[in-house]
Amino acid sequence: MKSLFEPESIAVVGASTDSRKIGHIVLNNLIQSKFRGKLYPINPRAEEILGLPVYTSLTAIPGKVDQAIVCVPNTLVPSVMEEAGIKGVSSVVVITAGFKELGKEGAILENKVGVIAKKYGMRVLGPNCMGMMNTTHCMNGTFTNIQPVSGSVAIASQSGAVCSSLLDWSTATGVGFSTFISVGNKVDVDEADLLEYLKDDPNTNVIGMYIEGADRGRELMHQARETSKKKPLIILKSGRTSSGSKAASSHTGALSGSDQVYDAAFRQASAIRVKTTDELFDLLQVFSYMPLPKGDGLAIVTNAGGHGVMAADACSDHGLALASFEKETIDKLKDHLPEAANCYNPVDVLGDASADRYEFAIKAVMEDPNVSCVAVLLAPLDTVDISAVAENLASFAGNVDKPVVGAFVGGTKTNEGIRMLQEANIPCYDSPDRAIRALGAMVRYRNMRNGTEDDSPVIIEGDKEKVRKLIDTVKSSGRTNLSESEGKEILSAYGIAIPEEVTCTTADEAAAAAVRIGLPVVMKIDSPDIAHKSDVGGVRVGVASKDDVKSEFELMMSKVASRIPGAQINGVTICQMVKGKEVLIGMTRDDQFGPVITFGLGGVFVEIMKDVTQSIAPLTESGVDAMIKSIRSYAILTGARGGMAADINSLKDVIFKIAQIALDFPEISELEINPVMVGDEGKGTYAVDALVILRREN
Ligand code: COA
Repeated sequence: MKSLFEPESIAVVGASTDSRKIGHIVLNNLIQSKFRGKLYPINPRAEEILGLPVYTSLTAIPGKVDQAIVCVPNTLVPSVMEEAGIKGVSSVVVITAGFKELGKEGAILENKVGVIAKKYGMRVLGPNCMGMMNTTHCMNGTFTNIQPVSGSVAIASQSGAVCSSLLDWSTATGVGFSTFISVGNKVDVDEADLLEYLKDDPNTNVIGMYIEGADRGRELMHQARETSKKKPLIILKSGRTSSGSKAASSHTGALSGSDQVYDAAFRQASAIRVKTTDELFDLLQVFSYMPLPKGDGLAIVTNAGGHGVMAADACSDHGLALASFEKETIDKLKDHLPEAANCYNPVDVLGDASADRYEFAIKAVMEDPNVSCVAVLLAPLDTVDISAVAENLASFAGNVDKPVVGAFVGGTKTNEGIRMLQEANIPCYDSPDRAIRALGAMVRYRNMRNGTEDDSPVIIEGDKEKVRKLIDTVKSSGRTNLSESEGKEILSAYGIAIPEEVTCTTADEAAAAAVRIGLPVVMKIDSPDIAHKSDVGGVRVGVASKDDVKSEFELMMSKVASRIPGAQINGVTICQMVKGKEVLIGMTRDDQFGPVITFGLGGVFVEIMKDVTQSIAPLTESGVDAMIKSIRSYAILTGARGGMAADINSLKDVIFKIAQIALDFPEISELEINPVMVGDEGKGTYAVDALVILRREN
């Protein structure tokens, strides 16, 4: 990867004498960026391009070549790759388009490029990319005519269009880049490879990525986690609205679309996911210029009450808390500000505030130990000298150890102030929401980073041998769906409590079992062919007498047989009735990220309520705590409206065990317990149901 980021010699294959062609522009950009290493233009006919001697091929170059940038038509790329391999080139950047993005034939061509690269051990960026820049290495190996300022932001983007937007934004705002990588089709180098390098790059303090999809999800997650421990990683992942395309048999499957899985992966890796390019820009700006806050408390200083209120509202949207000032701070403000000013948070310095009054208030709140970050809001009232406020803020806000951002809300009148602050490396936005969102992301990142220290995955020992035998038996019978009782055997092999139950084939047998287990009981149809029993009248809860058990048995058998003709029915299961709060725990297997564990409010309305959360296994203590706390109905578990608190420890234990089963048996493609009954504190958690589906072998 060093040869990709810091080559000492570069050959441009397809360098042209024609200044409009990409090969010419790339060579010119390398020269203009003052690349300090050796440059070799390659062209079969020309003798000199841009003052440099031209070689007819890579192998004709006398010296060593670290990197080749390829700008010849697609069909010529494999032969250039071969030549690069023979020459001993370490990395190749293929700018050429016309590969897998064009369909099957392009994919075959791209595959050839990958095979040749592997054969010679070369790293390849692209194809179908804009190339890359490393400003600290004085290298612009792209064909863009925009030269960004040098700085501490690294950018990697899968889309060329987003690349140009980011470059343009950089020149408009003055936010500088350390490296800029257009990843293209990712035949070899992908985002995970880039993070592995960038996390240790001393010239990069913050990384921004635009991703459409990842082929090595788990590796990306691993590298993202390692990176986030050292510097913020902000990811714009598009395709949020595409629903989970895979057909799924369980609720869990329907609830874990691929975008939720990306969400979980980024959250677990402590990467910050953003939804829009605006948000990406805003966060890159604040992270590249401002120090991380040391706590959670925000102070707002404003010249307009309305904006202060909106900023306070935005705090709850973006997870920030308004700091309570120390008495000393309030007294200081009261002594200095006019009587009508509000000296509590948000501090209102009033519409006629001068730059000095703003400065006094900002410095006073900054000295307060409860304040970790400050938002300075300004409305363009006729009584305020915007340039003076901006100039004054620019003179000190960049040299303090707490982050300060501005929100100058307006248009014509405020633009100049925003520009002045940006020039002084003070992030300034055009709305309180954007300012608070930026600071909220900083606080969240700091908390996530602190939370990941010493958080190792929880490992559970289960009776693997027993489960292995059971799965092999099911497989040898040609089935992929396990019956409920087989599913429960797997759960109990890992120590998950299940209510006592017995499957009965006659009404008399059922009545006797119900008396032995203890009335009232739950009755459920036992069939490997029915995934959602209650939908077909296959579940009855609270059957309270012997006679009721008998009549329900007959009714259920005939109802289910008529609704699902041909289903294999083993009988009716009589179950101990356990009490508790109904939740769902499930697992689906994602092609990229592996086992995805779903937890949420359970019961028959789960798909309507969608009160669920996902995490990728293996799971950690803090990860599972966060999962449980993140659902909307968490208050029900803690004992809302005078109810008893649920046994959360035993619930966590079941979540860990499901994750372990998924990790131990990759052939399980889906697993779901719905409902899981979480008893009152100390009463344990029971798996009332079990749906287990194996991967179909081709
Ligand atoms: N080795 C070196 N140079 C060679 C060569 C070889 N084997 N074969 C041909 N060349 C030279 C050509 O002679 C030409 O130079 P010239 O103008 O001096 O004659 C030069 O390479 C370029 O070849 P040409 O056929 O003129 O192609 P082009 O410049 O019109 O287009 C690409 C080449 C790569 C730019 C084009 O195929 C392409 O992919 N464009 C899209 C790029 C893109 O959008 N990428 C994604 C961005 S996100």
